[in-house]
Amino acid sequence: MRRITVELVPGVATEFVDRDRAVEQLEEWAERSTAYPVVIFGPEGCGKTAFLRQAASALRELGFDVFYLHPLDRMFAADVDDVDVKTLFLELARRTLEDEKWGRMALAVFDLVRELLKRRRRKIAIIADDVFQAIGLDKAAAYVKGLLNMIEHPQYEYENIVVLVATSEGVSRREIGRHRWAHLTPMWNMSKEGFRELYDKIPGPKPPFDEVWRLTGGNPNLLRELYRAKWDAEGIIKRMTWEKRLTPVFVARWRRWLERAVEDPDALWSPDAPEELINTLEEKNLIVYNMYDRDPFFWVDQPPPERDKELGIGRRVAWHAPIHREVVRRALQEAEPPTS
Ligand SMILES: Nc1ncnc2c1ncn2[C@@H]1O[C@H](COP(=O)(O)OP(=O)(O)OP(=O)(O)O)[C@@H](O)[C@H]1O
Ligand SMILES: [Mg+2]
Repeated sequence: MRRITVELVPGVATEFVDRDRAVEQLEEWAERSTAYPVVIFGPEGCGKTAFLRQAASALRELGFDVFYLHPLDRMFAADVDDVDVKTLFLELARRTLEDEKWGRMALAVFDLVRELLKRRRRKIAIIADDVFQAIGLDKAAAYVKGLLNMIEHPQYEYENIVVLVATSEGVSRREIGRHRWAHLTPMWNMSKEGFRELYDKIPGPKPPFDEVWRLTGGNPNLLRELYRAKWDAEGIIKRMTWEKRLTPVFVARWRRWLERAVEDPDALWSPDAPEELINTLEEKNLIVYNMYDRDPFFWVDQPPPERDKELGIGRRVAWHAPIHREVVRRALQEAEPPTS
């Protein structure tokens, strides 16, 4: 299967590396169809978008008509063997890019698929990246239900169908998980070997691999950011502290639990851990709560280890990456403990 080209850092193109199991999973899905929309979630920047782009290319190679939607990136593509549908899609995409009514594009896919299947039976893939943010989190579940209907009750028969959705929004997982309408499937940061391949491709002088690994835990986006910040991890930590609003009020309120979670994220799995804090840490994209069993069956690509103290991975709760934990650790150090 052809590997797509991604731009790792400006001016450095590389092929989509590693993720061998995920690529095999694509082949399985292509052969057997996805029984449910597969909704992929995982740490921010772990490589979901890169994987979906690889998926679009691979499925096309396997003879699928592919719709690809990535509104946040203002990217829409219909790689389909039908000139009329393609023209229609491009026209819709053009209008959507103008008026930014993203929901139209997401919904149009239902009609366009029906149109394609009306003409003949075929293999269909719908790949939707971060659509929930575009259409509104409150509509995420309904959208997934629409996708499931397409799989379960198509108006015209298909040969195979693959529906993949990615979300970088920790909270959408909760909204979707309430129903049986999707298979919520986690994906983790890269394996050490895969990450090393990317590290090796970064030009110029750089800190030793082990140091970069300890900071990023194999998160390819953090590798990118570190490079762009000239390896100034402190700067990245500071910016993240501000962006994620780890304010003194927040830190003071949850100090005791945050201190425990920094030592061991599984502390938040304890039955008396405050749900409000857990929800907030998920919303801030700092932790993944309720990690699945590490049976590869439940995961896209290889699951992370059962536990990794150094990387902040617990059995049931994990920091997105070590830097995310470090940001909280710093916020704890910097905020004055309450005087009374
Ligand atoms: N397997 C891979 N091979 C090469 N580069 C990769 C791979 N996975 C991710 N990258 C690169 O790492 C960076 C971050 O990946 P990506 O944008 O796919 O993450 P994401 O999980 O979609 O992030 P977000 O949560 O922000 O949506 C990108 O520059 C991407 O091209
Ligand atoms: Mg993404």
